[in-house]
Amino acid sequence: MSIQWFPGHMNTARREVAKTIASIDVIVEVLDARIPEASSNPMITELRRQCQRPCLKVLNKADLADPAVTQAWLNKYNQEPGVNAVALAGNRVGQAAKVPSLCQPLAKHRSTTMKPLRMLIMGIPNVGKSTLMNTLLKRRITKVGNEPAVTKKQQRHTLNDCMTLIDSPGLLWPKIKDPVVGFLLATIHAIGANAVVDEEIAEFLATTLLTRYPGLLTARYGFLEDGLDGAGVLESIAIKRGCLRKGKGGELDREKAAKILLKEYRNGTLGRTSLESPSTPEVPSV
Ligand code: G4P
Repeated sequence: MSIQWFPGHMNTARREVAKTIASIDVIVEVLDARIPEASSNPMITELRRQCQRPCLKVLNKADLADPAVTQAWLNKYNQEPGVNAVALAGNRVGQAAKVPSLCQPLAKHRSTTMKPLRMLIMGIPNVGKSTLMNTLLKRRITKVGNEPAVTKKQQRHTLNDCMTLIDSPGLLWPKIKDPVVGFLLATIHAIGANAVVDEEIAEFLATTLLTRYPGLLTARYGFLEDGLDGAGVLESIAIKRGCLRKGKGGELDREKAAKILLKEYRNGTLGRTSLESPSTPEVPSV
């Protein structure tokens, strides 16, 4: 699956973001803790290095990720120069509050009323940027939804007398060349998908879960035969959940089974999982 995704507003956003980075102190890069590397936009890394800005990497939705793998990612990122990393759930007030306090040491010369600390929230669509902003500001400032790229314009908000938060649109990069990265992004719904590719994404997810978390599949769907592959998982879910195509003589509805697996994965019903690890970044392709 090769993905090209570059709506016009993303082009405009890139230019705007490059300008904004020059006038802020710390970049808060929001990532999905289940796929921190795949959900990191190389363009953001490039822009922050170009402008020499420190970065707080927020491994968000940590409540959905495998805690041991998340810790391994934190260890890796915390060794990078100019980078601090934290794992949290941005929809929880106490956890979101860590963000400003971890940004402060990255720009020691700021955080006064005369020179407020300016934090720019960045990340690809659907990683939880708007949710984090809303939690920090304790009010709903932008539309929070599960469709990619709903946040359209940069906005500046006063967090307190000494701190400002700047929101930016969900930014994807022009061409996602690595098909595995494309599948990972589609799995967490950072990329919109139509019904046909839902099946492909679910098969990829099933293959990955078979390798990494077979026990979670068994616990949820009650099967695990020897030699089962991703396609077999979808068929087993279709049988288990009675997904049959109408008027097709009992033919299994793989699309419906795919939607069930994706939904139950995305909302955490399946359990806590990480789809890539620092030690094993390569995941099986389909
Ligand atoms: P974005 O601005 O980066 O595009 O993401 P946004 O905040 O809109 O969040 C995308 C989805 O992720 C939302 O779910 C949101 O609730 C969910 N989310 C954000 N942070 C967390 C987190 O830390 N943990 C978990 N489990 N979910 C999180 P949604 O289904 O679209 O909406 P909702 O009905 O859940 O609000």
